[in-house]
Amino acid sequence: MIKDLVRKNRSYRGYDESRKITEDELKDLVDTARVAGSAANLQPLKYRLVCSEAEVAKLNGITRWGKMLKDIELPHKGKFPTAYIVICVDTDIARVPENANTDIGIAAQTILLAAVEQGLGGCMIGNYEKTQAAEALALPERFVPQLIVAIGKPDETVVLTDTGEDGSVKYYRDANDVHYVPKRKLEDILL
Ligand SMILES: Cc1cc2nc3c(=O)[nH]c(=O)nc-3n(C[C@H](O)[C@H](O)[C@H](O)COP(=O)(O)O)c2cc1C
Repeated sequence: MIKDLVRKNRSYRGYDESRKITEDELKDLVDTARVAGSAANLQPLKYRLVCSEAEVAKLNGITRWGKMLKDIELPHKGKFPTAYIVICVDTDIARVPENANTDIGIAAQTILLAAVEQGLGGCMIGNYEKTQAAEALALPERFVPQLIVAIGKPDETVVLTDTGEDGSVKYYRDANDVHYVPKRKLEDILL
């Protein structure tokens, strides 16, 4: 089952905007991630929940999506996520935000798997200006927004493929906007 969940948990860049996400739903996702592993059990992560239309619009405006697809603007108009969880590092706990990056990865994946289990989905977003995100959400300086996780009801098709002969890992879309994600084969990653 976990294998199915992980396969279903793709980076979605198109959402059903009519499906709003409540603060309680976001809280529950964070509550799942709250008990995940943390280096030295420091737990330096703090979470800013974003589900109001005004704040979602701000983050929609500063997050950059699918940059490898140069000619396609993503998300398409009318297909933006309806919530975000901004994973922040509390620099009173971890002075160097990058030191918490492994914790952040674990937390983000846990959040996304929990979302997928509930019929939702998301996308990790690292491509944004931290200063812009902090300003948009009026975050106190102590909290560094290190990774943004978009959440919503996916409204697009994402297909996993094996990498081909050329070994390219570049994701691509076909004429029907189906998104393909090449993954390296098992035999190619075992040392
Ligand atoms: C740490 C991290 C940061 C990412 N940042 C972005 C981003 O800024 N914008 C984006 O569109 N996708 C982002 N992604 C999603 C990746 O592009 C995606 O994981 C990759 O294309 C493989 O697709 P998959 O997640 O469906 O397997 C990020 C993923 C990770 C793990």
